[in-house]
Amino acid sequence: KDTVPIPQPKGYPLVGNITDIDPELPILSLQNLAKQYGEVYSLSLFGKKRVFISSQRLMNEICDEKRFGKIVQAALGELRNGIGDGLFTAQNHEENWHLAHRVLVPAFGPLNIASMFDDMKDIASQLVLKWARYGPDNVIPTTDDFTRLTLDTLALCAMDYRFNSFYTDEMHPFIASMTNFLKQGGARARRPAYMAPFYRADDAQFFKDIEYMRKLSSDIVDRRVEHPKETKDLLNAMVNGKDPKSGKHLSHDSIIDNMITFLIAGHETTSGLLSFEFYYLLKNPEAYRKAQEEVDRVIGKESIQAHHINELPYITACLRETLRLQPTAPAFTVTPHAEPGDVIGGKYWVGHGEPVVAILHQVHRDPTVYGADADEWRPERMLDENFNKLPPNSWKPFGNGARGCIGRPFAWQEAMMVTAMVLQYFDFAPDDPQYDLQIKSTLTIKPKDFFMRASLREGWT
Ligand code: HEM
Repeated sequence: KDTVPIPQPKGYPLVGNITDIDPELPILSLQNLAKQYGEVYSLSLFGKKRVFISSQRLMNEICDEKRFGKIVQAALGELRNGIGDGLFTAQNHEENWHLAHRVLVPAFGPLNIASMFDDMKDIASQLVLKWARYGPDNVIPTTDDFTRLTLDTLALCAMDYRFNSFYTDEMHPFIASMTNFLKQGGARARRPAYMAPFYRADDAQFFKDIEYMRKLSSDIVDRRVEHPKETKDLLNAMVNGKDPKSGKHLSHDSIIDNMITFLIAGHETTSGLLSFEFYYLLKNPEAYRKAQEEVDRVIGKESIQAHHINELPYITACLRETLRLQPTAPAFTVTPHAEPGDVIGGKYWVGHGEPVVAILHQVHRDPTVYGADADEWRPERMLDENFNKLPPNSWKPFGNGARGCIGRPFAWQEAMMVTAMVLQYFDFAPDDPQYDLQIKSTLTIKPKDFFMRASLREGWT
């Protein structure tokens, strides 16, 4: 079949297109290149070619699991130094992925997630209490506080461990190690092997952080094995769960890999989602009013219950629309199964093993799907009656198929609950009404320097 070359910006010898990517904000560079080069382009980064796609049409092709599958490389590949072949970082063919997937899918099922409701509410109440006590003059570090919330929620629900982040200014040392591990993972992926001797101190810290995280996790696993506990947390699912197919248990190392994986995969993404959502709600007073009105009508002054989560269509739409414009895990990567390769878009050749990166920010703004106002945050377009009519694979913030997000129901319950609870208790205002969104990027994205204020609504003391 005839193919045409995939457009590619002119690069430099050796480094290729590395200068086209801003290391502080790679996702913005990738978006800008998409605006310049269109729905598909390729970059050569230190001699390795990667293809980037930006339209729903091409996304729909690469989401066909018969033709394409996840490939772990770049920053995700570096994380394998710490979390091995855990669910997030396993290659498709690795046995441990299949084993852990079969053992853990039931643990993330609707009943089990609903049984975590009270623990989630425990941590959300700590957030409400903090904001209430500090009062309306306090400037809320939005993203930091939501990160305290999501981390503490994960640690409690995943392994019955309390980081108590709301009670200290300093975060738990595990969090410093995890943050540095993620940062260094990204940095290591961006430099060529011949630069390694210049980064010995960074590398030493990277491996020290890994050792610390694994030791703490290992102690938690040992304690559970020695003192079993009747709870439905994820640790119990991993310690006691048996693969229905092979009858095997997860190994001690695999349990540690996955425990750290949940903390990594689940906290920044959900905290970013809540932070962006409040940014957009405060920029759109009409939507804010509708969301708060929905909470008042459905929950009123009652204490939120699990059944309320499914009775809040407008807030559901706000979260969906936020993940459309700001997918907090902004890209995922696949490669063709076929050898020597496959053709996308009817004319672009992609080799087997070559990474194809879906740039979610661009796919989610495809004007052929979302229209001329695709860049605007408008929750109405995500109400069920519209959402269910979207063309296939036009909204993919949780990834695709079997390698899509196992934690989606967990994140959804948490984000819905927290949005509803804080709207129920507080009136919010931006700290700086002139603030315009800026983005901070690690493996995930978050708003940068976004602060707000919260005053208790009437009737709460
Ligand atoms: C996978 C997004 C919350 C655990 C993924 C993927 C995306 C994603 C895009 C696919 C990555 C890829 O293809 O490389 C999100 C977003 C979240 C969120 C936007 C919140 C708003 C969570 C939570 C957990 C979690 C709360 C854990 C409790 C995982 C795991 C995988 C994954 C383990 C790997 C699944 C596999 O390949 O088997 N997530 N996630 N995520 N996520 Fe999430």
